[in-house]
Amino acid sequence: MPFIIAIDGPAASGKGTIARALSAHFGFHHLDTGLLYRATGAKGGDPVLAAQRLCADDLASPDLRSAEAGQAASRIAAIPEVRAALVEFQHRFAAQEPGAVLDGRDIGTVICPHAQVKLYVVASDQVRAERRAAELGADPAEMLAQLQERDRRDSERATAPLRPANDAVVLDTSTLSVQQAIEQAIQAVAKAR
Ligand code: DC
Repeated sequence: MPFIIAIDGPAASGKGTIARALSAHFGFHHLDTGLLYRATGAKGGDPVLAAQRLCADDLASPDLRSAEAGQAASRIAAIPEVRAALVEFQHRFAAQEPGAVLDGRDIGTVICPHAQVKLYVVASDQVRAERRAAELGADPAEMLAQLQERDRRDSERATAPLRPANDAVVLDTSTLSVQQAIEQAIQAVAKAR
């Protein structure tokens, strides 16, 4: 049976960095599930059709990293039919040997509730806004407002809202260096192996 690591958390909490490091450390496949929603939003037109027709090439565009693509993704992610259209791709990805790391908002709660390890990565609003501003070369105050709007939408939607699974290990990266956060995540996985 493949080993699954589910990583959830709000925008810019550090989950992507941790997911990439864990996949490299343990030799597992990695899927940034936010890209599925970003690519669906970026396709334009009917979001349900866009999600149903999504293909691997759609995930490669560098434009998907922008703040605008994140907002569009968050809006279409609240549509239950969009989420349903993306489930099978994620399940197939998670079934790969020897294991997979998936990061997103609903991996531990909805997509992979039987994951052997679930991490819920958080950081203070201020720290997250500063990180994202540095990454995108944007204004921290504007990033803060955007992140808070996106978190609110992602947490308050009726289908698969952002929340920790009951058995998730919460990792607060606010005061940790990247290396410290990765080490704590590796320890949490090593305990479960
Ligand atoms: O992780 P990200 O910032 O790239 O995600 C962009 C948006 O996609 C996020 O605001 C909500 C949505 N999303 C989701 O609803 N479920 C996921 N598993 C991943 C992302």
